[in-house]
Amino acid sequence: MSTRTARSLGPDLVLAGTVAKRAEILVVGLTSGPDGPEIALSEGIVDEDVLAEILDSLIAVGATGKPEQLTRVPAPSALSVTSVLAVGLGSADRLGSEQIRKSAGAAARSLSGIDTVATTLSILDLGAAAEGFALGAYSFTEFKSSMTAPGPDSQPLARVELLVPSPRTKETKATLARSAAIAEAVATAREFVNTPPSHLYPAEFAARAKALGVEAGLTVQVLDEKALEKGGYGGIIGVGKGSSRQPRLVRLEYASKKRGARKVALVGKGITFDTGGISIKPAAGMENMTSDMGGAAAVISTVVLAAKLGLPVNVVAYVPMAENMPSATAQRPGDVLTQYGGITIEVVNTDAEGRLILADAMVRAGEDNPDYMIDTATLTGAQMVALGNRTPGVMGTDEFRDRVASISQSVGENGWAMPLPEELRGDLDSKVADMANVTPHRWGGMLVAAHYLKEFVPEGVQWAHIDVAGPAYNTSGPWGYTGKGGTGVPVRTMISVLEDIAVNG
Ligand code: BES
Ligand code: ZN
Ligand code: MN
Repeated sequence: MSTRTARSLGPDLVLAGTVAKRAEILVVGLTSGPDGPEIALSEGIVDEDVLAEILDSLIAVGATGKPEQLTRVPAPSALSVTSVLAVGLGSADRLGSEQIRKSAGAAARSLSGIDTVATTLSILDLGAAAEGFALGAYSFTEFKSSMTAPGPDSQPLARVELLVPSPRTKETKATLARSAAIAEAVATAREFVNTPPSHLYPAEFAARAKALGVEAGLTVQVLDEKALEKGGYGGIIGVGKGSSRQPRLVRLEYASKKRGARKVALVGKGITFDTGGISIKPAAGMENMTSDMGGAAAVISTVVLAAKLGLPVNVVAYVPMAENMPSATAQRPGDVLTQYGGITIEVVNTDAEGRLILADAMVRAGEDNPDYMIDTATLTGAQMVALGNRTPGVMGTDEFRDRVASISQSVGENGWAMPLPEELRGDLDSKVADMANVTPHRWGGMLVAAHYLKEFVPEGVQWAHIDVAGPAYNTSGPWGYTGKGGTGVPVRTMISVLEDIAVNG
């Protein structure tokens, strides 16, 4: 088990009405406009003359307010902080929560080595500022030994004082509590993704998921390889059998106190490492396949978060976990397996393993009679070809797919609805089994994978499938509140969908 505490997952977030003595830096937002940059909405908390002095200094060193631009100037002597950091917000008329989240994140990333800052970004949007600071300050340091230990200058930001006009109202406190819980869940998902495959393998992943779930009051069951074999989980067994580390299926249930609440099933792909199996992947970039449990990480974090927020909706989460390895015991291209529930599959390509473990879990989840089902997975390279690295593909039953995509847009995770063209389904037909796990061609690979999963969605259940192959893991430079490595996508989409279902059914 990791010895990291929840504390190290992000800075302390506290509400404040005035800039306290212990804050070293004041972070303000700077909008750009036709008449030059302006400090966004800080009146009342910072004196107007002081603001004018800060703005003059910022303009003198070339600050324009363009999105995420960082400019640090010495603080006017009237303030107790030593400097002011301005972060660009772009045009004031186009300012939304996601820009505030990104700008707060960019500021937080630049503040390593600092203990405490105060910010006025929270006056614009408390929740977005809190999430942006918390997520931007996240960093994964578990495997930095004392040999190369980062000095005090690279310790992440420890404390953020969020300035608001009325820090003591119930509503303000509730807004911060929700955002802090969301940020912690995203950080938890990132932590799972960032933990290398040497340390996170199915049994260990299941044990950590169980510990988190039990701590949050969930009912947790773990099926080991014997139980999976006995239960007929042919997909999970087939994928897992090339590895010396045995597969698992974890079930985490959150039962809300509300009578008649809707039930949502969440299913997340938990391949702790994907070599491709016998259909082995090329060496270049294979190390990124440590992220192939990003869907599982998000699902575990989301069901735990639902419990912590006490949402009036029932959630049952299924997380199949396996390591996809080539070996003398691995499944072969051409093998036939039987998915949980009885559908037989010709495994033409052992690298299309995600759908095999998800199908078992989705059929099992259907036995809990959910109203809705969301599955999420780092499922296809084709997702990145179609939509790039930051835009999840959302497929499923028409209405729910559009609802999930639209909520994903509103929280800044930017999922995009994609079709399931009917003609692609036939290409999964097999001569020897009920279905093959791949098509003989590479067209529409993301949509083909969704067609495969659709066969395992129970009748009458509203379903959304979120492919996060690119978005779950950032292999390029940091941006906004997203550092390198695990991103925690799509935790914020899924929790917002659960909240929406809790309110609107
Ligand atoms: N885990 C991969 C998909 C992936 C690729 C995730 C790149 C993140 C980055 C998945 O198991 C896979 O290998 N998919 C194959 C499917 C193909 C064999 C039909 C792919 O996309 O190439
Ligand atoms: Zn995979
Ligand atoms: Mn694969």
